[in-house]
Amino acid sequence: GKDKELIRDSWESLGKNKVPHGVVMFSRLFELDPELLSLFSYNTEQESAQDCLSSPEFLEHVTKVMLVIDAAVSNLDDLHSLEDYLLNLGRKHQAVGVKTQSFAVVGESLLYMLQHSLGAAYTAALQQAWLNMYSIVVAAMSSGWSQ
Ligand code: HEM
Repeated sequence: GKDKELIRDSWESLGKNKVPHGVVMFSRLFELDPELLSLFSYNTEQESAQDCLSSPEFLEHVTKVMLVIDAAVSNLDDLHSLEDYLLNLGRKHQAVGVKTQSFAVVGESLLYMLQHSLGAAYTAALQQAWLNMYSIVVAAMSSGWSQ
């Protein structure tokens, strides 16, 4: 449908430059919620957001996040096929201290990055299409949280 087309078209160029776009996303995330910085254990010296954002381990995480988004875009016709993977990914994030509530601010940061990179191509319909896909990913990850 139209949603998938909007997502695929917009990801085509972004997906070729994953790290810089992921850095824009996480810079925004730390601006909105600086406490999330402390969840990256390799950020042991409680460095500034800028120090963290330029560390190799952190850039690896940024790449991992972008690859999950890439996998979701590639599997838009069958997002269910990612459910087990995403449930396990959720478990790992619970283990490192992430709260499911933080996914709302992650989503905001994703939209910020899209708006920032797409400019005039960022429309209300495109935003909604991405939100729909993101909420499916978040629901699947959140099912990995145990009480
Ligand atoms: C692993 C933190 C959001 C994908 C990790 C790790 C930490 C972490 C500390 C383990 C160390 C590492 O691999 O760097 C966070 C925080 C987040 C966040 C604080 C935001 C609140 C996300 C999102 C995705 C994601 C939204 C993808 C949609 C991954 C992947 C791994 C990972 C693929 C590797 C898991 C593995 O080892 O199998 N994350 N993460 N993260 N994260 Fe995140």
